[in-house]
Amino acid sequence: MKIHPMWADYPELAPDLTATLDLIESQIRPQNAAVAEALVAMISAGGKMLRPAYCLLFAQFRPTYDRSKMIALAAAVEALHNATLVHDDIIDKATTRRGLPTISAQFGQDVAVYAGDYLFVVCFKLIAKYASDLRSVQQDSTSMERLLNGELEQMATRYDYQIDIDQYLHQVSGKTGQLFALSSFIGAYESGQPLAFAKKIEKIGMNIGIAFQLLDDILDYTSDPDTIGKPVHEDIKQGVYSAPLILAMSRDRDAFLPYLRQQAQMSTADLAAIQALMTRHEGIPQARKMASDYTARALAGLKTLPDQPAKNTLIRLTTALLRRQN
Ligand code: IPE
Ligand code: IPE
Ligand code: MG
Ligand code: MG
Repeated sequence: MKIHPMWADYPELAPDLTATLDLIESQIRPQNAAVAEALVAMISAGGKMLRPAYCLLFAQFRPTYDRSKMIALAAAVEALHNATLVHDDIIDKATTRRGLPTISAQFGQDVAVYAGDYLFVVCFKLIAKYASDLRSVQQDSTSMERLLNGELEQMATRYDYQIDIDQYLHQVSGKTGQLFALSSFIGAYESGQPLAFAKKIEKIGMNIGIAFQLLDDILDYTSDPDTIGKPVHEDIKQGVYSAPLILAMSRDRDAFLPYLRQQAQMSTADLAAIQALMTRHEGIPQARKMASDYTARALAGLKTLPDQPAKNTLIRLTTALLRRQN
């Protein structure tokens, strides 16, 4: 299967990512034909596969690592990521993802719930089969719990215009940071590195994940649906107040309040007014600065790693993500 075009710049990693994607596809064998069709379409739609990429790259610090085992574990973290996306799109009532109709839009909510559940099964089956000991299984279930807690906190603060940047960062470290941290940890630990090294890698993964979500939240304000393959301006309409808005609002909250209406009432004029206020109060540049700070932390961690070819790839990839457009 074809992977995202961004990997043309990383020929050292592309074959392993292709193998990871092929393995996920081979694992999708649910009894129900609609669920199978929906999942294969989503998996083939060209997700960026960043979590498996980090998993595979961190494994390469142990040159004798077992390649097929690490590809299976990379597939497990990508399946988990896809499961969270399928369910996220149901909750957000999103119509597109990766440039295609979402599973819920095309096949209905029932199929989407089962399809997401099926991907959790794929993840667990792979981890159960390939993990070397219980440590990764524990790490995986703890990460999933934290990820869910991040989502729940986000749900609890919907339309809460008092949300501050620390609450936001706490949510983001749960809902997105955790999965990058887990993928990075598994890459290091399961390739046979000591636990202390894997724990250090886990922290680097967390900073990469937080920077990544900051970019996603910026793109929700600055991009267009064709470029990112999913709807834009959704966060504010859904009451998910993210970094660009929170940081701009911290300079003059009262100015924003008349326009922060619930989804159905929010008009194009409200949105335009908020965008203008955000420009005035530098919401996007402030959020970009924050993303660049988290990337700098990740890079500082990466620079302390042993000199292996993967180190350079990791530095290049992590730096490039700060400039991503989709
Ligand atoms: C989307 O993740 C969800 C976030 C955590 C922002 P990605 O942007 O990695 O999604 P795909 O897999 O490339 O579609
Ligand atoms: C997604 O974050 C986080 C998940 C853990 C699913 P978003 O809600 O920003 O993801 P998109 O923008 O829908 O991809
Ligand atoms: Mg969403
Ligand atoms: Mg988003």
